[in-house]
Amino acid sequence: MPHTNVLFTGATGYIGGTALYKYSASDIGHHFKNASVYALVRNPASSAAVEELNATPLVGTLDDAAAVEKLVLDNEISTIVHMADVMNEAHERALLGALAKVQTDNEKHYITIASGDSYGNVSKFGRHDPVSDLEDLYAAAAAAPPYMGRALETAIHDLAEEAGIKSYIVYAPLVYGKGLGFGNQTSVQIPAVIRGAYHHREANHSHPGDEGWSIVHVEDIADLFLKLLAATLPGGYPAKSGKAGGYYFAEAGFVSWKQLADLVAADLHMRGFVDSPQGKQFPGVPEDRSVPVQRLNTSPFYYSLVFAGLVNLHAQRGRSIGWTPKYDDKWLVEHFDTEVEPILAQNFKYGARVEVGDKDIDEAWPSDL
Ligand SMILES: NC(=O)c1ccc[n+]([C@@H]2O[C@H](COP(=O)([O-])OP(=O)(O)OC[C@H]3O[C@@H](n4cnc5c(N)ncnc54)[C@H](OP(=O)(O)O)[C@@H]3O)[C@@H](O)[C@H]2O)c1
Repeated sequence: MPHTNVLFTGATGYIGGTALYKYSASDIGHHFKNASVYALVRNPASSAAVEELNATPLVGTLDDAAAVEKLVLDNEISTIVHMADVMNEAHERALLGALAKVQTDNEKHYITIASGDSYGNVSKFGRHDPVSDLEDLYAAAAAAPPYMGRALETAIHDLAEEAGIKSYIVYAPLVYGKGLGFGNQTSVQIPAVIRGAYHHREANHSHPGDEGWSIVHVEDIADLFLKLLAATLPGGYPAKSGKAGGYYFAEAGFVSWKQLADLVAADLHMRGFVDSPQGKQFPGVPEDRSVPVQRLNTSPFYYSLVFAGLVNLHAQRGRSIGWTPKYDDKWLVEHFDTEVEPILAQNFKYGARVEVGDKDIDEAWPSDL
């Protein structure tokens, strides 16, 4: 059996950390006996934790394309699992460009992460019914209004095809659950709503109605990355790649913004942290976004992108490679306390303000979002 060297990015993060932990778990480790995993970390202090998870740390940053190329070539990487950041074209190009230069008899594979909003109404995809990952999404992206996320995803498949690399994009909607990695263990959207509710004694949602996002538990999205990795190894499931099917939605359920605020309100009211057991709409929205921006510790653009609107995905393609999510929306409702406890353990402290890319996002993106 040929041996495959695999590079993980994002191993100190919420999703990538969970994937690395699950990769190392003894019950699935045997799937990867002909693979060695290398993990890119920015801080050398993370190296010991990576080694404990049966992976080899490589210290570096995706911001240095020449250094990325060197470490990919030096370690004869033929598969990359990129879970570090979405919507960063320079990073995707650096990784794909480096993989293209590797001399190997192995097939080359590139598995990367994107955000579910590419197929939501906030990016003007223009659908309210569930979008399936079995649809021709390459053609649908070309027919839809221009949107940075979709354009980048199309470019990834195009660049990979030109370089003879098989490409797979995993779409993350709202990810929840406690991460299993050694670094960041908490997500973005639900923790922000919980923190905002605690600090303002009121759980809030954006518009009334049934808009919301598809959801996936962090362990399930990690499993999808690992199923795809296993599929790419010799003897694995045949997994569709590239333009003609390299689209994998990580979805198992849906939560509306109102339902989420009600869940937060009910839990925090029971703990005495909010005044009402029911969620309320943010004052001023949609015209004035200043209150949610302050309460969620975010920017107007990011509020509109990930705390409002509809992302309604239907995951079907992952089933063809044996992906069966273990958690769903019913589980989330019944175990909502498990979302609150890690944030309570952090004393509801706000994290860093979330930004997208290296520009001021309100300038870099359409103002009418
Ligand atoms: N969580 C969600 O619900 C969700 C949903 C949709 C999309 N996403 C997106 O998916 C990506 C991963 O999500 P996450 O929740 O796992 O994020 P996270 O916990 O913030 O982790 C990000 C990871 O990327 C690494 N990283 C960032 N910039 C890097 C660079 N220039 N060079 C090398 N490594 C770099 C970080 O390393 P350090 O530890 O060194 O910072 C960390 O390991 C993010 O872009 C996120 O926006 C997340």
